[in-house]
Amino acid sequence: MSGASAGTDVRDQLSKTPLFSGLSKKLMHTLSATANDRSYNAGDTIVKEGEKSVGFYFIVEGKVNVEKGGKTVATLVPGQFFGEMALLDEQPRTASVRAATRSRCLVLYSWEFWSSVGKDSDALRALLKEMVKRLRTTAPAPED
Ligand code: CMP
Repeated sequence: MSGASAGTDVRDQLSKTPLFSGLSKKLMHTLSATANDRSYNAGDTIVKEGEKSVGFYFIVEGKVNVEKGGKTVATLVPGQFFGEMALLDEQPRTASVRAATRSRCLVLYSWEFWSSVGKDSDALRALLKEMVKRLRTTAPAPED
């Protein structure tokens, strides 16, 4: 399912999340009309550590695990996102992301991201804030 069929519930979901809640109505409409709506079964690998790909994923339903070197480092739920790192620096994926339950994501490819979210300073700011939060929780404690 993609494009216009993504429908109003997707817009509702987007507006409820801190990352997208500040977006203008016009941008929200563009996003819900252009985002690719994808579903995954429990156990499916959505992105693979070390691979080069540039999709930005926004979780609409379900639960996903972020795995580094086979270890789960985070679990993400609806309203959260992943895949921003490879999209931003065009380097291989830093982790694998696997569906822990049946899940649904909206996927924005690089060009779609930069022509929508990437042009919105409030959305970019919220994205950076979340990235820093993740960094703080995973960075090793400073040595004495
Ligand atoms: P990317 O490297 O593109 O693909 C894997 C994604 O997993 C990564 O972007 C982040 O979105 C996410 N990710 C990586 N490390 C963590 C972490 N420690 N906590 C939460 N999400 C992470």
